[in-house]
Amino acid sequence: MTADSPNPASRPPHPLALAAIDALARRPGARVLEVGAGSGRNTRALRAAGFEPVSLAAADGPAAAALSSHALLHGTRAELEALLGAIARAIEPGAPLFATFGSVNDARYGEGIAVEPGVYAPEFGDEAGVAHIFFDEAGLRALLASAWEILSLEERAVDEIAGSWAHERAPLRGARHWFAIARRRV
Ligand SMILES: C[S@@+](CC[C@H](N)C(=O)[O-])C[C@H]1O[C@@H](n2cnc3c(N)ncnc32)[C@H](O)[C@@H]1O
Repeated sequence: MTADSPNPASRPPHPLALAAIDALARRPGARVLEVGAGSGRNTRALRAAGFEPVSLAAADGPAAAALSSHALLHGTRAELEALLGAIARAIEPGAPLFATFGSVNDARYGEGIAVEPGVYAPEFGDEAGVAHIFFDEAGLRALLASAWEILSLEERAVDEIAGSWAHERAPLRGARHWFAIARRRV
C-alpha cells in the first residue's frame, strides 16, 4: 500500500507518526496532540497503537507529545508562531514534537505572490491565495529556538509521503519538507 492509495483507510501513517509511537512506547494510553489530521491516517495509527489522539480544540489536559505532518505549512510567520505557542501550551513540559515544515528547497518556494519574506501565496490552483511559509535550516532553527530544543532535523523529498490525495488537482512535484523532532523546553 502506498501513501497515494485511493482508499483513505489504507494509507500508511506518516514516518513521524511512527516515530512518535516508538517514542511513547513507555506511555501506553497517553494523549497525543495532533494538528492537521487530514484523512486521519495518523489518527488511526495512534489509536491502533493504544494512544488517545486529541486536537487543539479538544485538548483536555496536557498531551504527552504533539504530531503534525504536512500541516504547519500555511500562514504568515506570526500565525505559525502563534500556532506553535498553542501547541507548546497543550503538551507537557519536556514533551516531544514531531512536525514537518516547508523548505526553501521545495519546488513551490518563491512562486506566486510574495506575502512577506519566506511566505508566498499561489495565484492559481486549489490553494490560490493561501499563504505558504518556507524555511531554510537556520530560519527553522531560529523559529523553534525559544520554546523547543531540536533533537533532529532533516530535509526530505515528500511527494510520495505527503500524498497526492491532498493536492488532487495539482499533484505534488518537487515538494521538500523539514522533518523535525524537538522537545518543549521546560
Ligand atoms: C496536507 S493535510 C495533511 C494531513 C495529515 N497530517 C497527513 O499527513 O496525512 C493538511 C491538514 O492540515 C490542516 N491544517 C492546515 N493548516 C492548519 C492549521 N493552521 N491548523 C490546524 N490544521 C491545519 C488541513 O486542514 C489538513 O487537514
